[in-house]
Amino acid sequence: MRRGLLIFLVVNLLLLSFLVRSVSTLLSLLIEDAAADAIHRAELPSPNSSLIEHRPQIIPKIIHQTYKNETIPEVWREAQRSCIDLHPDYEYILWTNEKSRDFIAAEYPWFLDTFDGYKYPIQRADSIRYFVLAHYGGTYIDLDDGCNRRLDPLLAYPAWVRRTVPTGISNDAMGSVPQHPFFLRVIELLQLYDRHWMLPYITVMYSTGPLFLSVIWKEYMLDKPIESGRVRILMQDEYNKFSWSFFTHHTGNSWHGKDARLIFWMGQHWMFLTFLGFVLAGIVGFCFWWTYGRVMLLGAQYRYRYTKVPAIISPSRLSSPTRRSRLTVPTLLRRVSFKEDEELGGITETSYELGRRDD
Ligand SMILES: *[C@@H]1O[C@H](CO)[C@@H](O)[C@H](O)[C@H]1NC(C)=O
Ligand SMILES: *[C@@H]1O[C@H](CO)[C@@H](O)[C@H](O)[C@H]1NC(C)=O
Repeated sequence: MRRGLLIFLVVNLLLLSFLVRSVSTLLSLLIEDAAADAIHRAELPSPNSSLIEHRPQIIPKIIHQTYKNETIPEVWREAQRSCIDLHPDYEYILWTNEKSRDFIAAEYPWFLDTFDGYKYPIQRADSIRYFVLAHYGGTYIDLDDGCNRRLDPLLAYPAWVRRTVPTGISNDAMGSVPQHPFFLRVIELLQLYDRHWMLPYITVMYSTGPLFLSVIWKEYMLDKPIESGRVRILMQDEYNKFSWSFFTHHTGNSWHGKDARLIFWMGQHWMFLTFLGFVLAGIVGFCFWWTYGRVMLLGAQYRYRYTKVPAIISPSRLSSPTRRSRLTVPTLLRRVSFKEDEELGGITETSYELGRRDD
């Protein structure tokens, strides 16, 4: 085999294995149903249950929320009130831009450059929630989520996140004990995932948002964490829409900017978009491969030209490979190659074919 071809194959194999390795988590996310770690509804007492809970509440009674400043718009004021009113015994912390930055600067100075460097404010709002959960523990709730009942039953798990349909997890409501290994890993990996992906929504989703969190979660589960390290999953019905659900979802979203609605839509359909991305990447990859193949062939054509082999083999034996190769070589290339053969004199189509066969 030619050395060029060998190198090409090896490089492609490496590239392919690298690609498969890097997207395997994404692909496996598509079929992850989170059943192994789901919080079963039978475990949760109903909102006004007479059942006496004996499970210790290990998550601290703190509710974290984020907004750019203290002036929360009217649309979310009601949702916020519903959580505060139901939990008078909980500590409530609103993480404004200024407060968030001060916190990072004081507690996680190694992250400050990344934090300041984020291009989109939503990335800071995303990342600060992981840091405060890892640091203080407690429950984080998005501003557009109101509370439908007290969160106490959820305090019995070392950490929980919310399942999204059809796949993955979200970062709009989650709880954790301080220093939980999952959230420690999340804050550790934020810097690594701080990359640009051309489109703002993909950048946001995959650097700090739900896609980022889902990927870390999926990889974290491979380690089969012990009970205290498990991340339990709040399923859709327990999240909202039912009388026993924990949250209510209020319309309007906390994403700002002129393409907020698009980003929000993208956020809800990230799985579809990821799939679309793979298909596009596949098409581009195929075109690249095809072009490369043509270019290699072109190079080969010119090399054969100089292989001066006398035409000693009878034309009948050559006819079939000739026809086959003619079919695979684009007309233009063939013509160029043959034309130059004519210019050189003595070298015929037959010798060209021989050179090719010997290779
Ligand atoms: C639980 O009790 C409160 C007040 O006692 C009531 O407002 C609420 O509707 C009850 N919830 C359910 C699901 O029955
Ligand atoms: C918060 O930001 C809004 C505009 O985005 C501004 O109108 C409001 O005055 C700010 N509130 C405070 C307390 O600075």
